[in-house]
Order: sequence, then structure tokens, then C-alpha cells
Amino acid sequence: MVLPKHVAIIMDGNGRWAQSKGLPRVAGHQQGVLTVRGTVQECSKLGIEYLTLYAFSSENWSRPEGEVEALMGLLGQYLASELALLQEQQIRFHVIGDLSKLPTEIGQSLSHSMAVTSTNTGMTLTLALSYGSRNEILRGVQRLIADDKSGLVDASQLTEQQFSDYLDTAQLPDPDLLIRTSGEMRISNFLLWQLAYTELYFCSCYWPEFDASQLHAALEDYSRRCRRYGGVSSALSAKQHQNESLEEASH
Ligand code: IPE
Ligand code: IPE
Ligand code: MG
Repeated sequence: MVLPKHVAIIMDGNGRWAQSKGLPRVAGHQQGVLTVRGTVQECSKLGIEYLTLYAFSSENWSRPEGEVEALMGLLGQYLASELALLQEQQIRFHVIGDLSKLPTEIGQSLSHSMAVTSTNTGMTLTLALSYGSRNEILRGVQRLIADDKSGLVDASQLTEQQFSDYLDTAQLPDPDLLIRTSGEMRISNFLLWQLAYTELYFCSCYWPEFDASQLHAALEDYSRRCRRYGGVSSALSAKQHQNESLEEASH
């Protein structure tokens, strides 16, 4: 089976999962953390090289204060409780997003987790926190303008690769597969530049219900995709050649 090198996930549906069980939304987020743990472990076990999880968007700041606080609390707990597991599995921890907006203690915890895991040689786990792709692109452009002014780069000659290096994802390859749970079929401001040729997979289960079998179904679906990047695939073009020769022979 052809495995994607980089899997990105929009973890959606915690609130609806909780509501469907008559529980407060926060209970859905708590359950969602357990799904994160399981997914990280499974991807690492399968040999996925990069896993990027959309955990909190720049737009999620507009949620009720109590929900935002609960999410930040869960994030703090996750970082504290998960470090040993990340070390054990040799997982490198990384974050993308506008981290300046996060509470100071969370910022410190993130820096600590990144520093401690920086020399690990296994999967790279990236959390997108306070992340919005338009905001990421704007921040990148602002840095680019500053570098152009100081002569570090010539903006008029900029290549796509050089521009990618100004994004938060500079260290990461583009995702091969994007999974979104909960039945919503939109990107919600996630990795707009990076998803240009990513294969999209939508599943109807809520994030707390997403388990190893759901992940395997997504990976199997991916392995059957034919990625053409605007060109023609070699298998397809070989078949077309064959058909054309047959047509010519019959004339
Ligand atoms: C995803 O679940 C988690 C975050 C966005 C933080 P939601 O909280 O969006 O759950 P729904 O979509 O309202 O069900
Ligand atoms: C996207 O989910 C953000 C995360 C999963 C972190 P949302 O629930 O915030 O997105 P919309 O509002 O349905 O587009
Ligand atoms: Mg949602």
C-alpha cells in the first residue's frame, strides 16, 4: 500500500459528538484528546513521516470565553502528559500558528516540548494552534517585505520554493492527504497554500469516534488515488498510447 508521507487532519465534530450524547461541548474536547493520542500512536506505528493536526484556528478565538479557556487547559494538560510518550516513540514535536496570541505558560510548554524532542528521529507531529492560513501568509509576506528592504532577498525574483520558506510550514513537505472528520466539506482556513495538490478525504464520523479503522480506511482510499499534478499519469498515458495504436491499426 502506498502510504502518504504527510497526513494533515482537521479534527472536527467534538461539540456535536458531545451534544449527541447530552454532554457539554467540553466533554467532546476531552474525548477528542484521547483520539489525538490514538491517532498519533497509530500514525507513528505505521511509519507516517509527518502528521499535522489542526487543533485551534485563528477563528476559534471567537468562541465563548469558557470554551476557549477549557481548550487551553486541555492543551496544557496534553503537553504535560504526552512528552514521555513522544520521547518513547521518538516523535519530533512542532507547532505552527500565531503563537504570540497563546497564554504565556502554553508558549513555554510548547517551546519545552519542541526543544526536548528536537533530536528525535521518528515522525514529526505538528500542532496547528491559533493557526489561520491567511494570517500565516500575511505574516510571511511581512517578513518577506522586511528581508527585501534589507537586501536579504530580491522579492521581484521570488520563486515558489522561496515563498514557501516564509510560511510556518517551512520545515514540512506539503501534505499528501488531508482528512476532515464530522462530514463538513470545507478547508476552514487550513494550509491554503500547502494543500494545492493534496488528496482530500472527508468522513462523516465525529472526531471523538475517529479510530484506527477509520484511519486505515482513509489511507486505503489514498493508496487508490491517481495523482496527476496537472499532467498525465504514466499508467494512464501508457494505456492511452495502447488505445491510440489499436485505433491506428484498425484504420
Ligand atoms: C473541533 O470540534 C475542535 C475545535 C475546533 C477546537 P468542534 O468544537 O468544532 O466541534 P463541532 O464542529 O462544533 O461539533
Ligand atoms: C476547524 O474547525 C478548526 C479546527 C478543527 C481546529 P471549525 O469547527 O472551527 O470550522 P468551521 O467553523 O466548521 O468552519
Ligand atoms: Mg467544528
